[in-house]
This record gives sequence, C-alpha cells and structure tokens, in this order.
Amino acid sequence: MTEPRKKTCKNSRKTMRSTSRLSVACLCVLTLQFPGLTLAASAANNTPDPDTKARTIEAQMTDEERFTLLHGIMAMPLKDPVPASELGGIYAAGYIEGVPRLGIPALHETDASLGVTNPRGARGNDFATALPAGLALASSFNPGLARSAGATVGNEARAKGFNVLLGGGMDLIRDPRNGRNFEYLSEDPLLSGVLGAEEVIGAQSQGVVSTVKHYALNANESHRRALDALIDPAALRESDLLAFQIAIERGKPGSVMCSYNKVNGVYACGNGYLQNEVLKETWHWPGWIMSDWGAVYAAGYEQQGLDQQSGSQLDPKVWFDAPLKADLAAGTFTHARLSDMVRRILRSLYAVGADKPTSPGGPIDLAAHNEVALEGEREGIVLLKNDGVLPLAPTVHSIVVIGGHANVGVLSGGGSSLVTPPGGFKATNPLGGEGEMADWRAEHYIGTAPLAELRKLLPNATIRYEPGLYPASAAAVAQRADVAIVFVTKYEQEGYDSPDLTLPAGQDAVVAAVAAANPNTIVVLETGNPIAMPWRDHIKGLVAAWYPGQAGAQAIAEVLTGKINPSGHLPVTFPVSTADLPRPDAPGLGTPENEPITVNYSEGADVGYRWFAKQGRAPLYPFGYGLSYTHFGYSDLHLQGKSDITATFTVRNEGDRAGADIPQLYLTSMAGTNTLRLLGFQRVSLAPGESRQVELHIDSRLLATFDIHAKQWRITPGRYETSLAKYAGAEGETAAVTLPKRLFGH
Ligand code: BGC
Repeated sequence: MTEPRKKTCKNSRKTMRSTSRLSVACLCVLTLQFPGLTLAASAANNTPDPDTKARTIEAQMTDEERFTLLHGIMAMPLKDPVPASELGGIYAAGYIEGVPRLGIPALHETDASLGVTNPRGARGNDFATALPAGLALASSFNPGLARSAGATVGNEARAKGFNVLLGGGMDLIRDPRNGRNFEYLSEDPLLSGVLGAEEVIGAQSQGVVSTVKHYALNANESHRRALDALIDPAALRESDLLAFQIAIERGKPGSVMCSYNKVNGVYACGNGYLQNEVLKETWHWPGWIMSDWGAVYAAGYEQQGLDQQSGSQLDPKVWFDAPLKADLAAGTFTHARLSDMVRRILRSLYAVGADKPTSPGGPIDLAAHNEVALEGEREGIVLLKNDGVLPLAPTVHSIVVIGGHANVGVLSGGGSSLVTPPGGFKATNPLGGEGEMADWRAEHYIGTAPLAELRKLLPNATIRYEPGLYPASAAAVAQRADVAIVFVTKYEQEGYDSPDLTLPAGQDAVVAAVAAANPNTIVVLETGNPIAMPWRDHIKGLVAAWYPGQAGAQAIAEVLTGKINPSGHLPVTFPVSTADLPRPDAPGLGTPENEPITVNYSEGADVGYRWFAKQGRAPLYPFGYGLSYTHFGYSDLHLQGKSDITATFTVRNEGDRAGADIPQLYLTSMAGTNTLRLLGFQRVSLAPGESRQVELHIDSRLLATFDIHAKQWRITPGRYETSLAKYAGAEGETAAVTLPKRLFGH
C-alpha cells in the first residue's frame, strides 16, 4: 500500500471535496492518484492500428492456436479441481489460454464493476476496493465519478494480473424485484448509457478490456437460464439496446457479454438478430462477444455472432473446441468466420494495451481508491424525506441507532460481483436455500460501522445501539432518545429476484413501532432496490444509501450530520406497491428454478418513470428525485436548432450553503403525443447565491422513435415540448421546438 497522495489538482488547485468542480475533481483522481493510468494510456496510444496488428498476428496463427482463444473456463476449483498453476497462477472468474510464441497473452478475466472480486475466497486473503452499488454511482448523475470508478477497478485488476474486466452492467432496471439491479445503473437509457460508457473508458484507460453485460434484456434473475423475454423489437431499440448503443459508441468496450435468457424466443448468445444484425452489422462494433458462464446451450452459436465460449465447464459441451473443429473440417464452419472471431479478440486486446504484461502483486494506492469509494457514496446517497430533522444538530443529546448491523458495517450485494474489501468481511450471514447460486447466498457486512462513524462526528451525544430484533424492545429504547435512526437492510443477489418490495425479517414492523415511539425517527435504507415503505408518513427523515461500499458508513454519517450536503437523485422509480408495476406478480415465483417461463415486457420502451407517466400513477418517489440541505432555482430555458437541438438554462443556489444539484430536461410532448423522456442532465455544484449557465446537447434519438422497417430513427414532424424539472413528472419551466420530418442514424 502506498502513501495517500495530496488531493489537489496540479492546475486547478481544486480539492477532491470541491464538489463545485466535480469533473475537475475526478480528473484529478485519474491523473494524480493512479500512477498506472498515464503508462497504460500511452501504451494504448502507441498502438498504431489494432485492426492491422490483429490481422497480421492472426495470419500467423495455426488453427489449433486460433481455437485456443475461442473458449475458456471458469477459473476456480469447482467440482473438477484445476490447480491455479494451470491457469497462469490466478483463480478468478475466467481463463483463456494465450499463444506465447506470438505474444498473445492468456486472458485473465475478473468480475466486475464494483471492484475486483475474489470469488468465494478462491485467492485466499486477496482483497480489493469495494465500491458502492451501481445504483449509488448512478444516483450521482456524475460521469466523472463513473470514470474514476472504472479506472479504480481497472487499475486494481491490472495490478492483480487481470487483463479483462467483466463489467459493467448495462441492463435497464425494469423490475424493482430483480436481484441484480444493484449491479446495474438505472431505468433510463441515457443515464445508463452515459455513465456506463465512462466506466468503460476508465477501466480501459488502465490497459484492461472492459465488458458491457448482459446483452440483452436480462431484466429478471429468477429462471434466468430459461426465461423468454418478449418485447416489441422497436421498443427494445428505444430502451435497453439504446443504453447499450450509447455505452458502446462512447465507451468503445472491447467485449460484450451475452445473457442467459432468451429474447423473443431465441437465446441471447445464439441470437443472430441481437449479435450479428444489431451489434456487429448495424453498430459496426469491432469487439468480441463472450458468453455468460453457462449460457451456451447448444451448437451453432458462432453462426449467430458469439465469438467466445466462457466458463465452458458450465455448458453441456465445449462447443467452441472439438465440435467446431469438426465443423471446420466438414466445411459447415468457415475459415473466414474463425479468423473473424480471433481478430475481434486480438484487436480489442491491442486497442487498449491489454496484451502488455500485467504486474501481479504490483502496488495499489488503496488510500486513493478508498477516496473514490467514499466520494462515490457521498454523491450516491439520496435524501428522500426531511421534515426538519436533518442534518442532526451538533447539540443533539441522545441518539439510538437501531438495526441493520449498524454496529458492525454496511451491507453488500452478493453473487459474482461481491468484493472482499481490505481487512475482509466484518460479518457473514450464510443464507443458502435452493438454486444453483445457493452456495453464494450470504449477507456480507463490510467497511466501518455507521454507529462508530456517527460517534466520531457527534462526540457530545450519547449514542446507543439496539439490534432491532423486536418491535417492542426497539420502541422501548427509541422512546428514551431524542432521535432514533433505524438502519434497514435488504439483501439481493444474482440468480434470485425478491418476491415483493417488503423488507425481510420483520423490519417493517420495527420501523413502524419505533416511529410510533419517537417523533424524530430517521430511516437509512441499505438496499439494492426500491422498497415499499408503509411507515413512510410516520417518520421524519429518510435516506437511500443503497449498498454503500467499503467507505459508505463514513459517508452516511457525514450526510446525517451535515458534513456533506446530500446531492444524489434517484436513478430508479420507487413504486408505492407491486400493484403499480407492469407485472404485479413476480415472474415465475413459485415454479421450480429454471422452469421455462415467458415474461412479456409489454411496457416496451416505457420503462420506470415513463410507465408511471403513461399510466397516470404517482410513484412513492419518482425517478430523479433527491433533496439537499440547500435549494436551487432554474431560469432562462431556451432550445435551439432544427436537427441538433441544444438546451441552455441557468441554475442558481438559492440557499445558504454550498451544494450540488441535478437539473433534468424532459421531453413531455412529442408531435402532439404526451410522453416523458429524460433528454439531458447536468450535475452542477454551486456556492450559496452562485449561478451557472448550463448547455445540454440533446441526443436526437431521444426525440425519435425507432422505425424497425426502415432500420432508422424517425422524427415525426411537429412540436416537441420540454420541461426543465427537478424529477420525472415535476412541473418546470417549459420550452418547445418544432422539428421537421427526418430519418437518421441506425
Ligand atoms: C454472471 C456474470 C459473471 C460471470 C463470471 C455469471 O454468473 O452472470 O455476470 O461475469 O458469472 O463470474
């Protein structure tokens, strides 16, 4: 571990905490705190032309060598133990042998976007920086932070000997019961696409290939290997595929991971429409498609665009070895396609410098990376309710902290993305149960304890802890304190969806009892999803902390005490109940795991807030919502242009303390049709009384529909009305433009 560096930017002299210049602050992290960045980036820049190099090297390979690159294994001691020495020395998510005679490195693959994982402790005590959930990152609406997060993970990956990162997660959040939403970003294609691209750029700046996943429509986890996701193809282009498209065109990831599920009747990894037609032919993306682990169910996927079979022990056969060699000999698999598959892999390695030797055991600036985790949660916490109870006054006399293991640490999401932080886990609660991921199913608490962090920041208060096991005992303790802070948790993990939006283990009853006993009750949510809150009207303060990451307890205490002014805004809608969702019943609930089910995503492109707007239903908390300890005003909204539209407006901090806001521009009417679409956003940090002019360049695809027959985006001529608002559905200043008919793009 190296010494923490001084956190000032050379040129601007801004500090990390100078949230008024967030992107500057993040660049500062990138350039000054990651010594590896400059080296890896310049290595990549010196690579003249990855396509030429890939062609030249591929031409020198034997067929046997070509096939080597096409399949890999889950690099862990599973049922058939594989010694690490046969895996180039590293246990991890994936391993693909290299071709040393041509300088082609082995592919050492690690999960994922929240940090470098050590799956089920296969590498002993090896630990890494555990970042907050993807939902927290997205709540920041801060592309610079996403880039720092990507660079942090990429930097640690390389220093541990990895050259392929299996992150980040790009699926849109369609169902607040999906067990994997905490790994994803948002329900909106623009927000997910923009932040996802920045994560990719950050990771690849470190000489590590980044993978966007899971392509596509892996919107539910239960039955994921047998789930047929039905959707209107045009709506798919306007929603999930638009998020991938934006992330891919801006971020240029070297690889894409196809998903376990079927899309419109065809398994994603064998889906020629998604892979060949859209991703490769239409978007001209030059990278390689790898399968998810155990997602190649049959022969022939190479014809449908899949380039590499991952985790092949988990599939019925290593299709991309002997069977494909036989097809080559029989002439049913062409040499041209074999070369194409190999070149795609090579060009991605060369494009980011992932062919350069890694330095396993290399130094990691853990202190600097902890700052990224800390800043991620500071900007990711969303203040949802504040009836004058927050920030806690320094004079507050007695506080009781209740539940959520707040005396130990903060909750982490589980599955393949679980990161073992420095110092290991603070507590582990194995859950088990049924299903193929049951052995992975355990609550892990990490980082420092919120209780201890609050005690540090409020040294004059008496702060007691009560585990919150029973409503009556929690209420009894709460009654004797000035303020009660209840920490509630809800564990999520891949492979499982939650059946509903309730909190497990009687926590709703505990909150209700505490709120009845203490008028100053504050609730902190450590969840990987929106939850229902039947007690919401009876509490005074509410904070969504998501899964807060290794430094999250400090950030929570800082927000509660006002050391940090909260600035996160929801990247996902909180419904009142499941009755308001497009599918009130949890898909497949009650049927045995992986029993074939069909989920009709009939909301199409109207995901999340768009669905609520269309139905005329009010959510519990809307997308984009988030409070601050100051307040902001907007003025002077103007739209300009006929095809490329630009919006300008002014944001002003009208309160008496510094803070950051996220003004959001929504499309509200599209050539006479009511609609709701996020057109742009900007994180703006302002001193009290300060104002700033903001300029947003609108992505024309957000003003269009996708014409599936013309295979282009179509603008219907007419008037396009917009609103500059604080959250989806809020009233705001309006402006309109009239657009001519237009077909464009692809
Ligand atoms: C997950 C992927 C992950 C892979 C390797 C799968 O179960 O769906 O996201 O990258 O495992 O760990």
